[in-house]
Amino acid sequence: MFASFLAEGLIGKAVDEKKLIVDLIDFRKNGIGKHNKVDSPPYGGGAGMVLRPEPIFNALEALDEKASVHKILISPQGKSFNQQKAIELSRITKPIAMTCGRFEGFDERIRSFVDEEISLGDFVMMGGEIAAMAIIESVARLIPGVIGNQESLTQESFSRDLLEYSQYTRPLEFNGMRVPDVLTSGNHQEIAKWRLKDAERKTRNKRGDLYDRYLKRSVSSDT
Ligand SMILES: C[S@@+](CC[C@H](N)C(=O)[O-])C[C@H]1O[C@@H](n2cnc3c(N)ncnc32)[C@H](O)[C@@H]1O
Repeated sequence: MFASFLAEGLIGKAVDEKKLIVDLIDFRKNGIGKHNKVDSPPYGGGAGMVLRPEPIFNALEALDEKASVHKILISPQGKSFNQQKAIELSRITKPIAMTCGRFEGFDERIRSFVDEEISLGDFVMMGGEIAAMAIIESVARLIPGVIGNQESLTQESFSRDLLEYSQYTRPLEFNGMRVPDVLTSGNHQEIAKWRLKDAERKTRNKRGDLYDRYLKRSVSSDT
């Protein structure tokens, strides 16, 4: 699942340039018995199979022996991932280990040996790999030099509790809709003012929860 993700586009370039290093670790190699089993039926009965603690514990312990790692469990029961968390993870200097589940998920004791549990949102997927890729991609873009224009990071959605302002490109007019005059005026102060107003309007209309947070933050930085 990871091969094309790690080979394409800016992620592929970051990997080539060693700005991003991703090791894929198959915890099945630490599986139990002749068949390297990593799962068993749940105690107490119920559907499906549950991931056993030993293979994951051993895989993480082997990593910790090389260097201390920040351990994340990828699970729908974790805290919802967001841009703030992406920024936080991008500042961690240790290697980050993300453990992806399958089947019915993890034996509860696995939670005792990770540092945090992260979810992609309130829905259930079949495995943690897509969530891990989403996290890798959003954290990688914050590593200096991974995306061409670092400036765009400061303006984009969520970076200041606002969605990004409306963007326009050519043509000047399309289906009767014209690009706002201010954007072609060349007046950079007026453009900046318009963009802030537009970002506020958009956030208020689309994401009331985010807008409330923005207002609270603006009030607390004023006082
Ligand atoms: C089918 S899910 C298990 C769900 C588990 N039975 C529960 O209800 O919490 C299998 C694996 O997919 C991954 N997964 C599913 N949904 C996810 C989400 N929203 N965020 C992060 N990982 C998720 C996790 O790694 C999980 O262990």
